[in-house]
Amino acid sequence: MDYSEAINVYSQQLSETEFARVQEFMLKNLGVKLSPIKIVMVNSRLIKRLKATGIYNFKDYLDYAFSPEGKRDGELERFIDELTTHKTEFFREPEHFNFLNGTILPRFAEGKNSFFKIWSAGCSTGEEAYTMAIVLNEFKLTNPNFNFTIFATDVSNAVVMKAVRAIYSFNSINELDQNLLKKYFLTSRDEREKKVRVVKQLRDQVHFSIQNLVENYSFQNNSLDAVFCRNTLIYFEDNSKKQVVHKLIEKIKPGGYLFVGLSETISQYSTQIKQVSPSVYIKVDTAVPENII
Ligand SMILES: C[S@@+](CC[C@H](N)C(=O)[O-])C[C@H]1O[C@@H](n2cnc3c(N)ncnc32)[C@H](O)[C@@H]1O
Repeated sequence: MDYSEAINVYSQQLSETEFARVQEFMLKNLGVKLSPIKIVMVNSRLIKRLKATGIYNFKDYLDYAFSPEGKRDGELERFIDELTTHKTEFFREPEHFNFLNGTILPRFAEGKNSFFKIWSAGCSTGEEAYTMAIVLNEFKLTNPNFNFTIFATDVSNAVVMKAVRAIYSFNSINELDQNLLKKYFLTSRDEREKKVRVVKQLRDQVHFSIQNLVENYSFQNNSLDAVFCRNTLIYFEDNSKKQVVHKLIEKIKPGGYLFVGLSETISQYSTQIKQVSPSVYIKVDTAVPENII
C-alpha cells in the first residue's frame, strides 16, 4: 500500500449497507446489538483491521472476514475481538464479592456439599475470575474443608489468551490490599513498565475456555453454585438476553446464585429467580424456606 492509498483507507467511511452486515453478524452469532450510533466506533475499529490485512475497502474486508478463509486465518476472531467491549478490573463492583464472601460462602460451608462451583461467564481478560480465586482462597484459610472450582469463559480468543497469561499492569492492582497483593501477585523488577503476574497457585485454580453464550454450554444442568455474568448481557439484544438468562439459570443449582452487572436487571426474564441483593439473584427452590433466601 503506498502513501496515498493508506490515506484513502484511513479516511474511508463504512456505508449503511456495510454497517448493516456487521450488525446482522453480531446479532446472529453473538446476540450483541449494535445500535445505529455505534457506526462511528465500528468504523474506527475496523479501519485497524483493514490496515492490518492490507485490504483497501470495507466491502472486501467483510467478504474476507466472513468467508471460510477468514475463519481459517483467524480474521473472524480478530473482527469479533475488535467489536466486543472488554473493560474489566480486579474487584469490580466490590459489593458482589462482599456478598459472595459474607453471605453465600458461609451458607455453603454449613451444608454438606464439598465443591463450590463458580463460573465467570464473559470473563474478558480474567480479572473477575482471579478476584473470585482470591476471595475463595481467603475463605478457605478459615474453612479448611471448603473446596472450589472456578470456570471462566469468553467468546473472544484474544482475551482468554491474555487471561491465561495473567500478566497485568501494576496500575490495575495498586489499590488492592497490600497483603493480598504480596500473597497473590508477582511484581516485575522493571521500574519503567511495572507489571504483575498472578501467582501459579491461583492461575492453576481457574479453568479458562472459549464459550459463546448464545451457543450450548458444556455444564450439566443444576450443577453450579454461582454464576457471574456481569456487564456482558448489557450489550445483548433483548431476546438474546432473555434466552441466555434462561440457559444460565438452567445450569445453576436450586438455591444457587446469578450475578449480573450493577446497572443490569433480569427479574423480568424469569420467575425462577428472586433478587436478594443489588444485581444478585437466587434460583428459587421450593425446598428453601423464604426466611433464608
Ligand atoms: C465488558 S466485559 C465484562 C467482563 C467482566 N465480566 C466484568 O464485569 O468486568 C464483556 C465480555 O463479554 C464478552 N462477550 C460478548 N459477547 C459474548 C458472547 N456472545 N459470548 C460470550 N462472551 C461474550 C466480551 O468478549 C467481553 O470480554
